[in-house]
Amino acid sequence: MIKKAILPVAGLGTRFLPASKSIPKEMVTVVDRPAIEYVVKEAIAAGIEQIILVTHSSKASIENYFDRNFELETTLEQKKKLDLLAEITQILPEHVSVVSVRQPQPLGLGHAVLCAKDIVGNEPFAVLLPDVLVKNQSEENDLAQMIVQFERSNAAQIMVEAVPDDLVDQYGIVDVAVSPEQGQSQVMQGIVEKPAVGTAPSNLSVIGRYVLPAKIMHLLEKTPRGAGNEIQLTDAIAMLQQTDVVEAYRMCGQTFDCGSKLGYLKAVLHYGVTHPKLGAEFIELIKELKL
Ligand code: G1P
Repeated sequence: MIKKAILPVAGLGTRFLPASKSIPKEMVTVVDRPAIEYVVKEAIAAGIEQIILVTHSSKASIENYFDRNFELETTLEQKKKLDLLAEITQILPEHVSVVSVRQPQPLGLGHAVLCAKDIVGNEPFAVLLPDVLVKNQSEENDLAQMIVQFERSNAAQIMVEAVPDDLVDQYGIVDVAVSPEQGQSQVMQGIVEKPAVGTAPSNLSVIGRYVLPAKIMHLLEKTPRGAGNEIQLTDAIAMLQQTDVVEAYRMCGQTFDCGSKLGYLKAVLHYGVTHPKLGAEFIELIKELKL
């Protein structure tokens, strides 16, 4: 069973400046909660019980958000603001814990994942990149499907979606003989980090959800610097694929890249209109704009 998930949150978020100058980009609010909460909830919905933050000294507010705040709780209790008290004490279910480890140097995503090696131990684990929000179209949770498939096939799972051909150089891109149907996995022939436009093996991009065996940590230790002079998770997965079956899982949900400003605005719109309490009035506000 996959119970641990690594969330690399040490990145400085230069794509989100100036907001990210003094607020971690993961703490920027999407409707009424920080972006990172959606990713943590996605992991929990897929059965994850331990969230491992790979973080940086400037990001303490993320850890604080998932911790208890005794002073605030006492004040809300005294003021009988019990709804709010429930909201802030029920962010995480009781069976879920959040631990953190520092990434001492910005050496890339592969290095960030490797920083969690001792916490992960010998168990397979998930990785969720918190820039990307995944909104499920139904009750189906794509990460949960990947975990089921991992347990069935024992093959690492890499979540993918199709992107326009001129955007392949922004993503990891997978090589598959047979393109997977939505909600299905197919064996991968290869994976390459940010290929130049016109050289990509497909248009299936890695969106930042992975289910990986513990063995990947040993491969990360041997992974030389790659694209951007960083230690790339993609390169370690390519190494894994030389000896083990690795599968690409094609997602059903919709992605929002909250690391970019327009992606973030799109997320606010989509999560806003479907918000259980605010959605109906938010739709009216949008109509008032008469665009
Ligand atoms: C990372 C991964 C890349 C993946 C992308 C998804 O890149 O290295 O393979 O496609 O996330 O967002 P980054 O966006 O951190 O440069």
